[in-house]
Amino acid sequence: MTKYDDMIKQRRDLLKAHDWIAFPPEDWWEPDQRKGVAPPPLEKPYDENTQLIDLIEPKKFNVGKISLIDTIANRESRRVFSDEQLTLEELSYLLWATQGVRVVDKNKLWTKRVVPSGGGRQPYETYLFVNRVDSIERGIYRYLPIEHKLILVSENLPNADELMDKAWFQNFIGKAAVIFVWAAVPYKTEWRYSLVSYKDILIEAGHICQNLYLACESIGAGTCAIAAYEQKVLDELIQVDGENEMTVYISPVGKICSNREADTE
Ligand SMILES: Cc1cc2nc3c(=O)[nH]c(=O)nc-3n(C[C@H](O)[C@H](O)[C@H](O)COP(=O)(O)O)c2cc1C
Repeated sequence: MTKYDDMIKQRRDLLKAHDWIAFPPEDWWEPDQRKGVAPPPLEKPYDENTQLIDLIEPKKFNVGKISLIDTIANRESRRVFSDEQLTLEELSYLLWATQGVRVVDKNKLWTKRVVPSGGGRQPYETYLFVNRVDSIERGIYRYLPIEHKLILVSENLPNADELMDKAWFQNFIGKAAVIFVWAAVPYKTEWRYSLVSYKDILIEAGHICQNLYLACESIGAGTCAIAAYEQKVLDELIQVDGENEMTVYISPVGKICSNREADTE
């Protein structure tokens, strides 16, 4: 027995499916949805007087025409990026490929997006650290998937060296053209699934990031999923409280560098 045994057991339980039959409903099944509580908003609200940044509409995309079989076959984690910028169309495509909305429920209870989500809850917000994107100023932004637009969160994006030093950032991050940061809003899932939300929430980050990997491959860009980062630093940068919304996963993106010798991790 070590002092961590109980903690390990508790954490492992998160990996399991809930025993839907054995548990009497009243033990855990008290989601707010059942109690008639109004649903949380489909995306984090924003000040409607704020000027939003237009992206290229999905129907106008000319990028991403490489075959699916090739993108799947070539997918790998890429940690060496060129100095090239991403075009606005490429960024728009990557955002759409990860969180694009296909259907908004007429009662505003759920959205259907390009990635699956238990109960259509879609608990993630997408933030971007924009370093080098054509026609978008350097800064921190949030994607509004329903509007398919960006909203500025902060102009104060640390420079590349600060990004690498400030947190337990892995040093290739500072070289990225753009860094995707996915933050969960747990209540969006808890509203429907109560205590059994957390397995779903974590699984769903994987769906989103895999789409980013494949979409990157289809435009000559690359990415690398990152789960090891400084929680507090990331949460502060995207201006969330770490309780009701917290960073879960990040993925830096850049054009692929032909010299990939360093890319061995
Ligand atoms: C959940 C998860 C977390 C990861 N975290 C990191 C990370 O913090 N730093 C990193 O350099 N790579 C990270 N990776 C990338 C893995 O190292 C990479 O997927 C693995 O080495 C296999 O290489 P491949 O993706 O090229 O097939 C992560 C991947 C996943 C799926």
